[in-house]
Amino acid sequence: MKDVNVGICGLGTVGGGTFNVLKRNADQIAGRAGCNIRISRIASRTAREDLELGDITFTTDIFDVVNDPDVDIVVELIGGYETARELVMAAINNGKHVVTANKALIAVHGNEIFEAAEAKGVIVAFEAGVAGGIPVIKAVREGLAGNRIDWIAGIINGTGNFILTEMRAGREFADVLKEAQALGYAEADPTFDVEGIDAAHKLTILASTGFGVPLQFEKAYTEGISGITPYDITHAEGLGYRIKHLGIARRRDSGIELRVHPTLVPKDNLIAQVDGVLNAVLVDGDAVGQTMYYGPGAGDEATASAVIADLVDVARAVANNSTQRVPYLGFSNDAMADLPV
Ligand code: HSE
Repeated sequence: MKDVNVGICGLGTVGGGTFNVLKRNADQIAGRAGCNIRISRIASRTAREDLELGDITFTTDIFDVVNDPDVDIVVELIGGYETARELVMAAINNGKHVVTANKALIAVHGNEIFEAAEAKGVIVAFEAGVAGGIPVIKAVREGLAGNRIDWIAGIINGTGNFILTEMRAGREFADVLKEAQALGYAEADPTFDVEGIDAAHKLTILASTGFGVPLQFEKAYTEGISGITPYDITHAEGLGYRIKHLGIARRRDSGIELRVHPTLVPKDNLIAQVDGVLNAVLVDGDAVGQTMYYGPGAGDEATASAVIADLVDVARAVANNSTQRVPYLGFSNDAMADLPV
């Protein structure tokens, strides 16, 4: 069986999870990919004593990974905008495929990245960037490929949903956020979680995948949960509602509308019952009707599950010398709605 070499950049929550799951399930993953997914190089600013790297080359310079001629696929798990962009563009320019969990990167720099990837004939895959372990990008892009998608809506930030759930039980906002950080759910800058930015990144990507429009993060109306008080939650309960932070992308006559904000959801609605770090995404397609995708929205091995799903897809293409691409967008000219912000 052929080896496909992978270089991992970043050994934080998701990097560590990816390393562990790739090791633990290596045989099964190889069977599914039709090749061995071999970690040949890992770059991280700090070493992880808890991981047994064996003969894997370890470096503190992420650019060593993209410059290693033996690496076929670069896995970008460092997060953030600028260094990640430089890293991914360098990988593409060196003819390497990329798997990333970085939704901020894709939402903000994705158009440029995909254009470069297209020109170089390499794949950039980003399943792990949206809704953690739920394979929702694949579902929207491939599972629903026969549909005209009319709207996509859901809970797409695990930390925010965890905070709202625990506040319902009487806990303090700041205390729950601290716990979400300790559990590795929150972003490096948790403002992204509580001000809706992370959800807006993910919604931008979902909309682009579902509607075939370019990524336009700047067009998303973005409001977080930082203004929600215990009183709001109790009052909503009394009226028969739960407060849920939703991302909603909808086809309108004027274009695609993107909005992220707290919403009153009737208690008996399925979305109202999605609690804790779980995410749920509802997609409405003209042929299938409504489908719903539900599962862990953050966490080390849950997100690793999505990283590895992409790795299997891309490694399969590498092993077969296939020109088959993981498509991303570019099939529609729908304008984005200009929302009053
Ligand atoms: N901070 C993100 C969340 C991580 O809580 O949903 C997963 O994208």
